Amino acid sequence: MCEPSGRIAVLVSGAGSNLVALADAIERGEVGAQIAVVVSDVADAPALAWASERGIATSVVPFDRADRPAWEARLADAVESHGVEVVVLAGFMRILSGRFLQRWMDRVVNVHPSLLPAFRGADAVGDAIAAGALVTGVTVHLVDELVDHGPILAQEAVDVVPGDTRATLLERLHAVEHRLLPWAVDQLVRGNVRVVDGRATIGPTEQRSSR
Ligand code: GAR
Repeated sequence: MCEPSGRIAVLVSGAGSNLVALADAIERGEVGAQIAVVVSDVADAPALAWASERGIATSVVPFDRADRPAWEARLADAVESHGVEVVVLAGFMRILSGRFLQRWMDRVVNVHPSLLPAFRGADAVGDAIAAGALVTGVTVHLVDELVDHGPILAQEAVDVVPGDTRATLLERLHAVEHRLLPWAVDQLVRGNVRVVDGRATIGPTEQRSSR
């Protein structure tokens, strides 16, 4: 197995707070990676503008519902042309098929605002509030072909408090995401992650949990 180069791609669809947190953690020397490219399916995603301003290479691959395989091939090419070894989904709201995932087997990582397998999908925060959950949280996991699914790298619980709105809960979830995602990316680029039978183990220690 070749050692990871530390070159990562960050795929985004929206605001990009996780991208910013990851870039800041890299700058502080906490993550042994460099962001080779930021790729988005949404041309006017604020995350893209932020990356451009920061001098990071960007690429837009607008989603093509009519020809999904061709869109995904363009997406893979945009990532691969930058010599990337780890792909980070930081608020990337599209599903990737096996064709894409096989090119970066066990090296595509996603952050999701729930304690998976609870509340998969696009509105995990709203769904947790609607369900009356007292606890939700953040999961960072390797990506397989199912939605918000794959070997778990890190999880941390966040309480849902009375009166929480999507915005107030998301703010507390983001604070956790901004710690867990950089930590997990660092483990990946250092080659510390092993996957056996659909479960990940990390380095000499156990998976990370705060509770
Ligand atoms: C994050 O909360 C992330 O967990 C979520 O999108 C948000 C993006 O925020 N991802 C998913 O729901 C994936 N199913 P950001 O653009 O500010 O990083």
